[in-house]
Amino acid sequence: MCGIVGYIGAQTSSTAQEVVLSGLERLEYRGYDSAGVAVLDGECVAMRKRAGRVADLRAVLAEEPLAQSPAAIGHTRWATHGIPSDRNSHPHLSADGRVAIVHNGIIENAPQLRNDLIAQGIEFASDTDSEVIAHMLGKAVAERGDLTQAMLGVVARLEGSFAVVATYAGQPDRLVGARRNSPLVVGLGDEENFFGSDVVAFVGRTKEAMAVGQDQIVTLTAHEVTVTDFAGNQAHAEKFSVDWNLETAMHDGYPTFMDKEIHEQPSAVAETLRGRTTPDGHLKLDELRIEEYELRAIDKIIVVACGTAAYAGHVAKYAIEHWCRIPVEVELAHEFRYRDPIVTSKTLVVAISQSGETMDTLMAVRHASEQGARVLAIVNTYASTIAREADAVLYTHAGPEIAVASTKAFTAQITATYLLGLYLAQLRGNKFVDEIAGYLEELHAMPQRMEFVLEQEEQIRELARTMAEVNSVLFLGRHVGFPIALEGALKLKELAYIHAEGFAAGELKHGPIALVEDDLPIFVIAPTPRRPLLHSKVMSNIHEVIARGARAIVIAEEGDSAVDDHATAIIRVPHSTPTLMMPLVTVIPLQIFASELASVKGFDVDKPRNLAKSVTVD
Ligand code: G6P
Repeated sequence: MCGIVGYIGAQTSSTAQEVVLSGLERLEYRGYDSAGVAVLDGECVAMRKRAGRVADLRAVLAEEPLAQSPAAIGHTRWATHGIPSDRNSHPHLSADGRVAIVHNGIIENAPQLRNDLIAQGIEFASDTDSEVIAHMLGKAVAERGDLTQAMLGVVARLEGSFAVVATYAGQPDRLVGARRNSPLVVGLGDEENFFGSDVVAFVGRTKEAMAVGQDQIVTLTAHEVTVTDFAGNQAHAEKFSVDWNLETAMHDGYPTFMDKEIHEQPSAVAETLRGRTTPDGHLKLDELRIEEYELRAIDKIIVVACGTAAYAGHVAKYAIEHWCRIPVEVELAHEFRYRDPIVTSKTLVVAISQSGETMDTLMAVRHASEQGARVLAIVNTYASTIAREADAVLYTHAGPEIAVASTKAFTAQITATYLLGLYLAQLRGNKFVDEIAGYLEELHAMPQRMEFVLEQEEQIRELARTMAEVNSVLFLGRHVGFPIALEGALKLKELAYIHAEGFAAGELKHGPIALVEDDLPIFVIAPTPRRPLLHSKVMSNIHEVIARGARAIVIAEEGDSAVDDHATAIIRVPHSTPTLMMPLVTVIPLQIFASELASVKGFDVDKPRNLAKSVTVD
């Protein structure tokens, strides 16, 4: 949560400010309750900051411009300590106004540090935990005369999580950043360098980046990058290249990022599948630091994830258990680490995360590693913390996902878990090579099947427009349709702020049917009629809710006429889609519906209230 950007160039110009502002706009998905920017202005640092969006900050800057500067730092906030307000916005300044900082994370010992500073006569200008860093740095740099040395002294006294970037009027040629448990990357440009919470901050200006490691301090000038550990010893930070470009981080003519990302799903799935086979036809993973004999010995898989990523895990359970005959548990990452999970060296923990930075999932990864498990990460963001700390990584190649509500990351995650399942089946001999090839072929056919559903977009949007007044929607599914029902309900809660719940259709009679009343919209995800047992059960569920006055909106296979006379609306998915692949198509109408309902209600589809995309606090 919170996005930070830093820029240092060889020249004093307006570039620094503009790079930071446009980086903040792209990072707004990390938090958007206030924004600010600071630049060097002679002997001091000058800043503008406001509660509201980066657009509000731009308006302030148009009225009260800042000086041109070689360096700038900026922040977009998701409040943790202190309400969203002008005074609590970042940057924060040292008492003498010569140091400014932006911070993402939580300083757990801030109350003690604040009391110490107050006792020394410092006056605080905000209620945030972050401001202590500015004052401590201000004092340290006054004593040591060097920002890097000052940062070394300060980080030693901080507890909690932080990615912090600082600028100091006494050394206008540099920025200094430090990182512990919060994300920070460096962009390496031509006569300019960048800090960012992730590469989206500087995408379009450079393709070369460096992942700042845990407990590292980075000093950036326009020409040089110096990395040390928290003891001041020279350290190594891994370089990588950024294959995302500016276009992939822009709206591209769609009204919202979410709409664009819904439409990008066929290519996200295709990209995730691309290049996964060796010349001899075997599946391979991206980065594997687990020995094959260890993978063969695995006797249990535990998926840890949060939010939508956890629902991808629920879908994966059906496929992996079926293909590999390994028991799969799916656990919310924040629950996993606070109970006493049974984890052994034969457990494979699969962490699923779009951002690769979700703190709860990261902590679950660390807990699993400490217990001796092997950890495989399914992550979308290259060189993110979870990707680096896991023993193996399978990247989803969905491209940057900017809308807070996850869409293309979800379908790419399901695809990646299926690749993992097939990889394990191959390794352990659960399936013959030709069987695996058959499943892969079906997966490769999915992007086209997804297009088929996307073609019904207008019909789905029209349906949503007729429901602007509803205040409750239920979702029912069986088998792999069950997690999709949960995901459909989550999308609606996140975006349209109405009561929405997903149920296993079989559970209906055990309680939820009491919620059914006249006109209640119920989405039902119907299995293929080629699975008659499952199909007939769901048909009975449809009859049960209709008999009680509900409106059934059924997502059914093309040609499935059993629903024709009963459903209020039918959305079709392509004929012959294998049951296990169904989630990749059945989720799409639910995403479109939620997006449209939110927009007819006048809500911000990309930035729903109270949420942030990358939850880097726990
Ligand atoms: C937040 C987002 C969700 C996302 C979840 C997990 O809650 O609002 O959309 O599914 O985090 O994020 P991750 O980056 O770990 O997939």
